[in-house]
Amino acid sequence: MAKPSTTFACTACGASHARWSGRCDACGAWNTIQEEAPLSAGPAGRSLGARRGAALALTDLATEEAPPPRTCSGLAELDRVLGGGLVPSSAVLVGGDPGIGKSTLLLQAAARFATVGLSTLYVSGEEASAQVRMRAQRLGLESAPVRLAAATSLRDILTTLDAERPDLVVIDSIQTMWSDTIDSAPGSVAQVRAAAHELTGYAKRRGASVILVGHVTKEGQIAGPRVVEHMVDCVLYFEGERGHQFRILRSVKNRFGPADEIGVFEMTGSGLAEVANPSALFLAGRGAPAPGSVVFAGIEGTRPLLVEVQALVAPTPHAQPRRAVVGWDSARLAMILAVLEARCAIPFAGLDVYLNVAGGLRISEPAADLAVAAALLSAREDAALPPETVIFGEISLSGALRPVGQTENRLKEARKLGFTSAILPSDDKTGGQSGLSLTRMGDLTAFVGDVFGAG
Ligand code: TYD
Ligand code: MG
Repeated sequence: MAKPSTTFACTACGASHARWSGRCDACGAWNTIQEEAPLSAGPAGRSLGARRGAALALTDLATEEAPPPRTCSGLAELDRVLGGGLVPSSAVLVGGDPGIGKSTLLLQAAARFATVGLSTLYVSGEEASAQVRMRAQRLGLESAPVRLAAATSLRDILTTLDAERPDLVVIDSIQTMWSDTIDSAPGSVAQVRAAAHELTGYAKRRGASVILVGHVTKEGQIAGPRVVEHMVDCVLYFEGERGHQFRILRSVKNRFGPADEIGVFEMTGSGLAEVANPSALFLAGRGAPAPGSVVFAGIEGTRPLLVEVQALVAPTPHAQPRRAVVGWDSARLAMILAVLEARCAIPFAGLDVYLNVAGGLRISEPAADLAVAAALLSAREDAALPPETVIFGEISLSGALRPVGQTENRLKEARKLGFTSAILPSDDKTGGQSGLSLTRMGDLTAFVGDVFGAG
């Protein structure tokens, strides 16, 4: 048997390496690689098998398990993203850029949960109690029964938790927490890990819910929320463009509900307001049909969402034409340009291409392919698409249009917002009852010929 040798592991991403180096190849972080002792070092007498542990109590898969009880905050956008409310004995991580509104969201959420009966403790490691109280006043929440502490010492916080036994603890933020048993600075991987470990341990031990705030750190800062993602039950990201007033809470992991769910909020002068009809928000300000503008009927999580895809195509003064994308994947844009060129003989060489998803939303669905292609063609031909039309469908490399899921929901949302027709892949046979006039297309060439009279 080969002798187990020492290995090295990155403390930021967990990748293992054969030798030490200053920078992890896998995640790009610096100074994160540490030596790890092999699991069964030494002769058999010292290995794990020599001393026996306790036998585990085994169960079978059919054992009845009641669904976890949930507490709803009354903020419907938050409750849905959590999978239908907050679950006891669970840890939730809320990540996001600094300044995006995490503290505001969690103070509002804490106040709501406290009002519906959870004993709630808000621990701020970043702001003094007076600052948090001022924010609560600005948000009109000063009478909510939330207990408040400004602290960073993990030991003090755990002692307080064991004495107070709150049902919900908000820790703002995990990067400011500090354990005196670990010899590194607050915000380092080891400290962030230890804090997350202790606090999630508290949640499981006492049946409480713990919400951790984590700043997404810029490149080069290592202790981002990623290192605690696997320790928590639910990971939410709070996103938004600074210039825009709306914010999206997106679940990327949820042990108690669907991932990829989104909640939409608007940042106002008095805190975050729920946006019950995001399609109307994203389509607001859309004028008369213009070349390069297309409405995509998308799905985010379980909810349909209409967004405007805008393209601009202009002759380039440069040797290398520009391809600029906001809100979509640039590799996917390159693919669609290549398919248009190869399958429909519509060249984009010598043309700058700009693509923008209006409102600052980021879409990742392949179902947006056809809307993107339509926006590009419409901009290139300087011809507006038929008015009041939504478009969706995936484009394959052959130029064929592939059906996408949840057609009925997409069409229903379009109808609700006053659209009268839709263009979709012909292999998709659903949606006949939608009340919209449907144009089904088999491939991109047919689409080009039909809609732009070219090809
Ligand atoms: P904050 O919750 O402090 O962000 P984070 O905790 O993610 O760092 O919010 C910061 C921004 O939100 C700040 O620029 C001001 C703005 N804001 C409002 O627009 N309205 C409000 O009612 C509040 C409390 C904040
Ligand atoms: Mg904050």
